[in-house]
Amino acid sequence: MLKKKYTCVKVDQQKDGITWVIFNRPEKRNAMSPTFHAEMMEILTLLETDKDTKLVIITGEGVSFSAGQDLKEFFRETDGKPEVKAKAGNDSKWRSDKLWMYNKPTISMINGFCIGGAFTQCICCDFSIAADDAIFCLSEVNWGILPGGMVSKMVTDTFNQRDAMFYACTGRTFNGKEAAKMGMVNYSVPLKNLKKETLKLAKELLEKNPNVLVATKHAIRSTQSMSWRSSADYLAAKAAEIKIKDAARGHDAYAEGIRQFIDEKAYRPVFSPYVGAADGVTTAKGGKPRASAARKPKKAAASRASVKRIVKRSPAT
Ligand code: COA
Repeated sequence: MLKKKYTCVKVDQQKDGITWVIFNRPEKRNAMSPTFHAEMMEILTLLETDKDTKLVIITGEGVSFSAGQDLKEFFRETDGKPEVKAKAGNDSKWRSDKLWMYNKPTISMINGFCIGGAFTQCICCDFSIAADDAIFCLSEVNWGILPGGMVSKMVTDTFNQRDAMFYACTGRTFNGKEAAKMGMVNYSVPLKNLKKETLKLAKELLEKNPNVLVATKHAIRSTQSMSWRSSADYLAAKAAEIKIKDAARGHDAYAEGIRQFIDEKAYRPVFSPYVGAADGVTTAKGGKPRASAARKPKKAAASRASVKRIVKRSPAT
């Protein structure tokens, strides 16, 4: 549990393992100053090993997620001060290097303005959900720089070339619905449902085996830039890592998952994780079969019929 209070960021830790990290400079639309970056770097570093935190949600207080770098404090006031500038630059890597391979799942909840440098933390969180009417903008071209600090690279990796070029060069705004279409966020919802939908995703993730989940997110990230051969080796090593981490809590996800489905019929993998995936209380240790395991003959027959229909429709291979 984090006890310290911060000036630019609020940390709200829930009992269920969800920790909210809330940018808290609403009067500056949550623009990111050097102090803001130093605090975020410290907070994320502490939360990564904090036993009460299983998942992190990042969002902004007020009408803005973040208005990007603070033009006054991050840029102008550090000009001519190379040491201060370098420190601010290093601290600002919480958005990229830190979040990209973070050891816990992360969600960015985009509640309003998401501008320039704030694209980084939006994209580098594992999941992102926006309000339909959130406003996204690569404003850099309008105030005299290019989208630096890796923003151009991230946008190019995330959007298609046409959209990346268009929005970087025009500086036009787009909303949450358009951000979802371009793959910048997973989906958008009306602002009034934003928190509820974000929590729904968070709780779904918390039901998974945490070691499997983290290895999976690392696999999705890392294999992007690896060769076929290296990916195969990396994935095999990551699978072994899951076994080692699970063994430390008296668990074997792979064996348990198969056993509960094939032998006990305690769950069905298409509908839910196995019993005890999250907390280790498996059926072998008194955990109860999942409701989704109940097999209803009528429905099963119906779903077999629909499978047949799908197979029939599929083109011959
Ligand atoms: N850097 C520094 N200060 C910022 C800022 C930023 N990126 N974004 C907003 N602010 C400050 C404003 O200067 C203003 O401060 P003041 O009250 O001391 O005058 C305050 O936040 C509120 O801004 P305002 O423009 O009045 O709010 P708004 O709700 O009408 O508009 C924005 C919000 C985000 C559209 C607008 O502030 C804006 O265009 N900000 C710049 C965003 C940007 O280009 N970021 C750089 C990305 S690299």
